[in-house]
Amino acid sequence: ETKPRIPVIWLHGLECTCCSESFIRSAHPLVKDVVLSMISLDYDDTIMAAAGYQAEEILEETKARYKGRYILAVEGNSPLGNDGMYCFPGGVPFVEKLKSMAADAQAVIAWGSCASNGCIQAAKPNPTQAVPIHKVITDKPIIKVPGCPPIAEVMTGVLTYMLTFERLPELDSQRRPKMFYSQRIHDKCYRRPHFDAGQYVEHWDDEGARKGYCLYKMGCKGPTTYNACSTVRWNDGVSFPIQSGHGCIGCSEEGFWDRGSFYSRL
Ligand code: SF4
Ligand code: SF4
Ligand code: F3S
Repeated sequence: ETKPRIPVIWLHGLECTCCSESFIRSAHPLVKDVVLSMISLDYDDTIMAAAGYQAEEILEETKARYKGRYILAVEGNSPLGNDGMYCFPGGVPFVEKLKSMAADAQAVIAWGSCASNGCIQAAKPNPTQAVPIHKVITDKPIIKVPGCPPIAEVMTGVLTYMLTFERLPELDSQRRPKMFYSQRIHDKCYRRPHFDAGQYVEHWDDEGARKGYCLYKMGCKGPTTYNACSTVRWNDGVSFPIQSGHGCIGCSEEGFWDRGSFYSRL
């Protein structure tokens, strides 16, 4: 309550905007408290009221006023092909906008698998030569928050930690916050006793599916996926993909689109 709100510039590269869709559904903390009391979301070209030249002026103003103090949040990745022409916000290639805004940021957050790992735009054959943001920004601390999208409370949890402790959360070797990405989905999955007992769903809608058996044979990637879905869950802790009857497709892991079928074992 006594701290000034920290300025945040939120950029959108090649993306689908579902990371934003996830973020605005955060229940703990409520996203309205994050946006109105914790951060000052000075620029977000998707949800801000300003548009066009007015929006771009705000971006430059924010950059100058909070030089070295703002957090740069990036949703989406950067296409390098054809001189960056495949993503051209505000009349400049996104890669240039990204470099320019990163130059004066105190830290950079890579929201989602697009910014963290490339995601579908970077899947083979990657016609736009899309790259994750760490390939463009090499001289700033980057926190990766992968997932397609990431869990809302994981996103706001990362921001809350940074504002509360005035430092980055502890990161793993892939720059993901350990507090949310240090365990596999499989480690805390409520279907794990069935895995251990050798009880598997063999076909969609079989007896095992109705009994809630393990989805490993249906291609579940929970054993190789690091994320908080089986602990934090989604929609204010209501459920997650496996609880809805579908295996994890490993959406927070690098290259998950190129690793073969979502429905076969690795
Ligand atoms: Fe959309 Fe997924 Fe990319 Fe987020 S990570 S912008 S949800 S495609
Ligand atoms: Fe592991 Fe997936 Fe089976 Fe859960 S459903 S126990 S994550 S293999
Ligand atoms: Fe993604 Fe697997 Fe969670 S598909 S949403 S990491 S259960």
